[in-house]
Amino acid sequence: SPSLLLLSRKLYPTAVKRLPQAIIMGVRKCGTRALLEMLHLHPKVQKAAGEVHFFDRDENYNKGLEWYRMQMPHSYFGQMTIEKSPSYFVTPEVPERIRAMNASIKLLLIVREPVTRAISDYTQLRANAATSSPTTLPTASPKSFEQLVLHPNGSVNEGYRPLAISAYHHYLHRWLEVFPREQILIVNGDMLIEDPVPQLQKIEQFLGLEPKIGNHNFYFNETKGFFCWRNETSNRCLRETKGRKHPRVAPHVVSKLRGYFVEHNQKFYELIGEDLGWPE
Ligand code: A3P
Repeated sequence: SPSLLLLSRKLYPTAVKRLPQAIIMGVRKCGTRALLEMLHLHPKVQKAAGEVHFFDRDENYNKGLEWYRMQMPHSYFGQMTIEKSPSYFVTPEVPERIRAMNASIKLLLIVREPVTRAISDYTQLRANAATSSPTTLPTASPKSFEQLVLHPNGSVNEGYRPLAISAYHHYLHRWLEVFPREQILIVNGDMLIEDPVPQLQKIEQFLGLEPKIGNHNFYFNETKGFFCWRNETSNRCLRETKGRKHPRVAPHVVSKLRGYFVEHNQKFYELIGEDLGWPE
């Protein structure tokens, strides 16, 4: 009977793998890992390990939803499963594929000031290139950010991927053709770095979670230069690959790029119905 089932659930709760009820869909280098780990402080949140890349990679998508479910963590009744795969944001097929799985899923989009995001992306690409090149060969000195973002004639190299990804409206409009605006929460990644708790409280509300995350969960780590966090079961900072030191970029290049993004940011603000006040 239903009451017996409820009773047995209470006495012997079983954890099973469930499809996510919320997805962090991007944007890369905006704090997607920090966001997922911070949300995991909440007792009702379970997170997928790693990045699942189900909806953006055909070789995974073709394995079907049961494969996807198996990539999820165990969760108890009433818990929420969340995964993050930042490349979902920029992959055209993804919104429709997610809708086909669950049209009422909640989506989190974390963004950062676009020039900072592009520099962060560049810093990561350069670090990855340095570790993947064979140590026996002399490595060509990597191109500077300035060389990559500007053409020799001084115009902006719009095709450079770290810049292209920062023009968020190009990608977001596809999501809004598939999902109503209310189903997507825009998270301010710069504010998540500075002062995470207010951002997390907004997210708890959006996800329908009881307010649990608070200042008691966070402490500023001077050595790392970022917030770290703790709860009953863990105490951690993100690894060194998160919160890298950025190269110094010539101020005239920063202002040139800020100018370039004004129009893109305006289009993004129109799509989301909010002005994030990024510097011009
Ligand atoms: P940088 O390494 O350029 O500073 P993602 O996880 O999407 O790749 O984002 C990485 C970014 O998360 C980092 O970029 C960092 O700025 C940001 N971040 C936000 N909160 C952080 C925290 N508490 N610790 C470390 N990095 C954090």
